[in-house]
Amino acid sequence: MKTVLITGATSGFGKAMAQKFAANNNTIIITGRRADRLEALARELTAAYKVPVHSLVFDVRDRAAVFAVIEQLPPAFANIDVLINNAGLALGRDYFEDADIDDWDTMLDTNVKGVMYVTKAVVPGMIERKQGHIINMGSIAGKEVYEKGNGYCASKYALDALSQSMRVDLLRHKIKVTAIHPGAAETEFSMVRFKGNEAAAEKMYEGYQPLSAADVADVVFYTTTLPAHVCINELVLTCQAQANSFYLHR
Ligand SMILES: NC(=O)c1ccc[n+]([C@@H]2O[C@H](COP(=O)([O-])OP(=O)(O)OC[C@H]3O[C@@H](n4cnc5c(N)ncnc54)[C@H](OP(=O)(O)O)[C@@H]3O)[C@@H](O)[C@H]2O)c1
Repeated sequence: MKTVLITGATSGFGKAMAQKFAANNNTIIITGRRADRLEALARELTAAYKVPVHSLVFDVRDRAAVFAVIEQLPPAFANIDVLINNAGLALGRDYFEDADIDDWDTMLDTNVKGVMYVTKAVVPGMIERKQGHIINMGSIAGKEVYEKGNGYCASKYALDALSQSMRVDLLRHKIKVTAIHPGAAETEFSMVRFKGNEAAAEKMYEGYQPLSAADVADVVFYTTTLPAHVCINELVLTCQAQANSFYLHR
């Protein structure tokens, strides 16, 4: 039984990963800003899988809060084996000159600095125990830049660089770092990106079968099942209809 901390578990990939890891008999720490959703998920996981579940309500951008919640973890949850930095978002889909600067700040603060804060808080324990696995949720937007992707692409490119850098620096501590780069997946991602515009969000998934959150969770889970000496460094994952950021067959 491993202890797995998943950020952004109130919806989408994070929720599906919590379900997958719980179904496989792991101790789960779920995080997010929406306390009601975390409570509901904790109840669901405890009832269905009888595994220990702990919820942490915090914003990954809040540096003080990040360190406080990790420091105050109850002993039964304190030895984190797998950290999944999944919390993140895209905001807006505009040409560079039209994009909202506040949206850029939010994306960079969440997708890059949030990952740095959470990892910095968790990694000392991994170093002490000389083992650990950090999984960063990147995107194909961090592999190929697309039109009107400016701030989001910049954040996921930065995260890609950070994942590579972490892998190098943490090598001597026997900590694995895996970057997962999904393509189009149907979650609340597009509703958030298009700020509640349902029609625009639905249009993203029209005419093909996108990845589901469960598809992504299965792949992430697989990367944690390998022998100690085997590490998937990075993995690009799309639905069959998508070849890369540009080619989507509808
Ligand atoms: N869906 C896609 O097509 C796709 C493709 C490639 C990569 N990704 C990446 O996959 C990750 C998960 O996205 P998703 O598709 O599952 O989207 P989602 O359904 O919108 O879930 C995003 C999660 O991130 C959390 N989150 C956002 N901002 C946060 C903050 N400041 N502090 C704490 N938690 C925060 C949200 O929780 P709260 O709102 O409760 O805080 C939510 O649980 C993101 O990093 C995204 O960039 C998504």
